Amino acid sequence: MALDIVIMAAGKGTRMKSALPKVLHRLAGRSLLQHVLDTAARLGADRIVAITGHGAERVEASVDAQDLVFVRQEPQLGTGHAVLQAVPQLHAEGMTLILNGDVPLIEAATAQALLEAAGGANLALLTIDLPDPTGYGRVLRGDPAGRGADVGGRVHGIVEEKDATPAQRAIREVYTGIMAAPTAHLKRWLANLTNDNAQREYYLTDVVAMAVADRVPVVTAKPRHEAEVLGVNSPLQLAELERRYQRAQADALMEAGVRLADPARFDLRGTMQCGMDVEIDAGCIFEGRVELGDGVRIGAHCVIRDASIAAGSVILPLTYIESSTIGAGAIVGPFARLRPGAALGDEVHIGNFVEVKNSTLARGAKANHLAYLGDADVGERVNFGAGSITANYDGANKHRTTIGAEAHIGSNCVLVAPVAIGAGATIAGGSTITDDAPAGKLTVARARQATIENWQRPTKAR
Ligand code: UD1
Ligand code: MG
Repeated sequence: MALDIVIMAAGKGTRMKSALPKVLHRLAGRSLLQHVLDTAARLGADRIVAITGHGAERVEASVDAQDLVFVRQEPQLGTGHAVLQAVPQLHAEGMTLILNGDVPLIEAATAQALLEAAGGANLALLTIDLPDPTGYGRVLRGDPAGRGADVGGRVHGIVEEKDATPAQRAIREVYTGIMAAPTAHLKRWLANLTNDNAQREYYLTDVVAMAVADRVPVVTAKPRHEAEVLGVNSPLQLAELERRYQRAQADALMEAGVRLADPARFDLRGTMQCGMDVEIDAGCIFEGRVELGDGVRIGAHCVIRDASIAAGSVILPLTYIESSTIGAGAIVGPFARLRPGAALGDEVHIGNFVEVKNSTLARGAKANHLAYLGDADVGERVNFGAGSITANYDGANKHRTTIGAEAHIGSNCVLVAPVAIGAGATIAGGSTITDDAPAGKLTVARARQATIENWQRPTKAR
């Protein structure tokens, strides 16, 4: 049976008070809409349709999804009107699952359970009991003629808060905005919607009463977690959902044995693979794909993006690492910066205020203080002195520096690339090296020290 998924993402999101369309705001590094698309992609749908409207071009350009169809809804006349725009894209038969672009944490298993409840023939609503149902559509059960809440009875409708009587407002079972409907019925129901209500909108929720009239059974399913159905309407709600999501990720990592100093001060905006006995201090942010080997320790307040760090390495506090690889037993930081293409071998030491970019450092190489290594190939056990840099950029092009194994580069040296330092060479402190330096020898490239014997300090004129 065909499965179509419709994702509503046309709304403005007025309460975000932002120029960015609501569904493009980010949660754990991915847009709200991308979360929903990633979940939708796991449901084996035959077609996924996203309804865009507000900021449509930006929304459509932003997503990363295969075989996604966009349908524009302009103007936005309500949720029923939104789904109506998708009708030409839907199969004639089968089921349609409706998701919300601003309800990012819905899980595939919950959507699956909703589809099972629908069983190919029923209208299935995802509902939840909330202590404070304010703002949501209430689920009406029991005898339609009866007043008030009949908690156990059959569903016969959904009433929006603005249209609800005081008794209906007391109902705590709310519609989450997610439903599964037999497509053929849905198409017919949508065509018959009216906007005869408090908001002059075409309400998708009115299909429930139509299903009852058509004797199509209306069933409900519940999400496993409340966070799955929480929508984002304001910066506060976005931040609250972010914390819930981060806490769940932190719990999963701790479950797997990772020791987090404080799960409330942990952020993962991507994916992370950790070996055994990994320790992460407070306030760290991980982005993209991060791999940490056995026994890796990450100090407080590090930002690490797209990096792999091998067993036993220690990253000291306040270090920033991006698109880099680090071998085993290395020590990096505090206050170090690894820019894209830094490839550190085993037991490399990178100390405070050292920046490394697009450079390989072989086993045991050290740059412990105040240095810059850019576009360099550094041999084993090289010692790169405090304050020394590779001058890799001539104003137009980048050039490489090669430093042979066991070379010692003194303090405050400038290695003007392209240049090669031979293995075992020593470069005297303060040298500006513009020509290759031979292996095994001392090279000095600075003015000689001189003392002016009869020099007089100037004195103030009277
Ligand atoms: C909707 C439900 C309500 C439910 C609540 C759950 C209706 C009539 N009401 O109310 O029962 O409790 O969600 O959060 O469906 N959208 C469009 N085009 C439009 C209008 C909305 O694409 O013309 C999109 C919005 O961007 C949003 C979603 O549909 O992603 C829901 O719209 P929203 O206005 O938030 O509906 P609610 O009033 O919250
Ligand atoms: Mg809403």
